Amino acid sequence: MIIIAGSASSKLAERVARQLNCPLLNPEIKRFPDGELYVRLDNKLEEEHVVIVQSTHHPQNDNLIELFLLLDAAKDLGARHVTAAVPYLTYARQDKRFKPGEATSAHTICRLIEHAGADDFLTVDMHNNGVIQNFSIPTYNLTAMPLLGQYLAKLKLQEPVILGIDQESLERVRRVAAELKADYDYLGKLKVSPKKITIQPKHLEVAKRDVILVDDIISTGEIVIEATQILRRQRARKIYAACTHPVLSGDALQKILKVGVHAVIATDTIEHRTSVVSVAPLIAGAIRQGF
Ligand code: R5P
Repeated sequence: MIIIAGSASSKLAERVARQLNCPLLNPEIKRFPDGELYVRLDNKLEEEHVVIVQSTHHPQNDNLIELFLLLDAAKDLGARHVTAAVPYLTYARQDKRFKPGEATSAHTICRLIEHAGADDFLTVDMHNNGVIQNFSIPTYNLTAMPLLGQYLAKLKLQEPVILGIDQESLERVRRVAAELKADYDYLGKLKVSPKKITIQPKHLEVAKRDVILVDDIISTGEIVIEATQILRRQRARKIYAACTHPVLSGDALQKILKVGVHAVIATDTIEHRTSVVSVAPLIAGAIRQGF
């Protein structure tokens, strides 16, 4: 088996290769003067199982094209089996036609990955698990929630409450909470007057307790910021935000910290300064077991 490091996930690919104790190939990736990408795999790949590790966060389109070129080149160079390990799959949130005429981008991207040469596909905490049904190749959607929970369990949290941002996130939150043996809940909408709706934990009191907000993605940080302001009014003690994918566009992290979030805890599906938890053991474990 050979692990190929896409440029968006070079550190993670190295960690996965180390876990699997197998060779790591760093492809030659350059840009032509007009901005086009050049990709070269300078290794013998015939009859190999090749795993390409490439996340597709910003710059999304460049990272996607690199993924397509790597998949196609590996296949063309005779790899026996090519796994697309895409820890963060971009466009996954545009998973249906919300308005007539919209492109269902998630479906398009899945089809393109498959057509580029992937024999199977692996990702982590895909926004909507239904999206992977667009593939006809075998797919696996791993979850980093237990790893986040294990990290949180090492912090000295006081009567922690793990909070999801909506009812749909309850299963994710449960997986985190199980590692800490902590209480968990989600933020429900509450009508305070005919004109005003606020959010608050559906069942639990947070006063004087540490709260960990858990989401799959933190992007603009708007949800975390709104939730933090409300939790602070409810006298929560320290507030943490944990996520799998630290998209954290623009100055989102600064804004989140400014409203009083103690720390953002994320994984390395996207390499970011908040990536304190590695999904390498998760990906390596899945590959080792043949998914
Ligand atoms: C949305 O459905 C996702 O699960 C996240 O809750 C969302 O992407 C977070 O967005 P933001 O950080 O921009 O509020």
